[in-house]
Amino acid sequence: MKISSSAAAVALLASSADAFAHRGGGAPHRVRTALSAATEERAPPRMNRPRTKAPVFDEVCETTGVTLGRFLHSHAELNPEARELTVLFDSVGTACKAISNTVKRSQLPSSETLGLQGEGNASGDDVKKLDMITNDILKRALKFTGRMGVLASEEEDEPVSLLDDGSPLSSTWAEKEVIVDETEKYVAVFDPLDGSSNVDAGIPTGTILGVYEYDEGCKMDDDCVGEECTEQERECLANTLQPGTNLVAAAYCLYSSSTFLALTLGNGLYMFTLDETIGEFVLSQADVKIPDDGKIYSFNEANFDRWDAPLRDVVTGWRAGTGANGQVFTSRYIGSMVGDVHRTLLYGGVFGYPGDTTNANGKLRLLYEGAPMSFIVEQAGGLSTTGTERVMEMVPREVHQRVPIVMGSRKLVEEVEGAYAKKD
Ligand code: AHG
Ligand code: MN
Ligand code: MN
Repeated sequence: MKISSSAAAVALLASSADAFAHRGGGAPHRVRTALSAATEERAPPRMNRPRTKAPVFDEVCETTGVTLGRFLHSHAELNPEARELTVLFDSVGTACKAISNTVKRSQLPSSETLGLQGEGNASGDDVKKLDMITNDILKRALKFTGRMGVLASEEEDEPVSLLDDGSPLSSTWAEKEVIVDETEKYVAVFDPLDGSSNVDAGIPTGTILGVYEYDEGCKMDDDCVGEECTEQERECLANTLQPGTNLVAAAYCLYSSSTFLALTLGNGLYMFTLDETIGEFVLSQADVKIPDDGKIYSFNEANFDRWDAPLRDVVTGWRAGTGANGQVFTSRYIGSMVGDVHRTLLYGGVFGYPGDTTNANGKLRLLYEGAPMSFIVEQAGGLSTTGTERVMEMVPREVHQRVPIVMGSRKLVEEVEGAYAKKD
């Protein structure tokens, strides 16, 4: 059937507008959600107070939608003090696109990214070549923003200084020339490829990133000696050992059926989806809110018998339909934290990696897995606990410290906390 070009154009516009509305999980007004004082009123007491104003998008290009670039620029206009984050997350977006391509191509016979690197990382995990490659992509992307003070990564034994100050912290970083200017500096903590052991089986993986403000007190003198250096080094290291409550931003990228980027700049959670036809992350869900309740749990159940009694009791109740909400739960567990948390945010439920009799603190790392993902979940109105403590308030003692975690829908996390409280 032949249709006129104008009719085709109208149909195209209508379908893309419709698609945009549906990708947003509802009518287009969700994309226009304004956050400000209203968010402050809604914020549960334990949630970080909004520190920034979120942009409102009254007019949207129906072909491109709201790109990550436009979102960041609008955010910077409303929050001039956070302007430097625009540069940073623009780079993070590019790094996520590059990592997404690398992961996708990794299974091609011509690819050299398969297999083990042949060594373990600081946490004793096998390191895959992809872990190293993605670490390098993200590290370089952050470095070239010129806004980085220090970074800490799952794949770096020690924090890495990105200031050209002769710091021993930068000894693992061969190229030291950094574009240093007088702008605000940040600390980035990240897990470049979460779930990397799954990649050969085509299972989703992700990148997790947290951003803190950098304390300018961290300066290494070129001519320091002995104890003096150790003290300065300790101060620099302290920059990376901040509690989650100090986070100014956090994000994850999920490499799956689509490539997603979920971002919080301290005022709600914003999800972007990579539109490969234009090479841009496009806002697909604004001000995401996790359902308050749910009936999906996501744990490695093989460890059930070794968990703490309160958690075993709660999960037993959920299986039987005798828990607080009376629902018979179902179980979903990918084994990639980013994928499991992404689903939990959208469908509700809980994700966790609790401590057990073999590993008292579970498996996940506080600094670059636990804290940023907890910030994201809290910004969506959920909770994150160790069972007895809010994960966001824990001050890391060391970079690769592990932490037991249960995060997700408010009511379910409260049920777990209640069970632990009853035990004490
Ligand atoms: P990573 O690949 O960065 O080491 O992290 C894997 C983590 C996390 O993504 C996931 O939730 C957990 O390990 C899965 O562990 P189990 O295989 O023990 O269930
Ligand atoms: Mn991980
Ligand atoms: Mn990892």
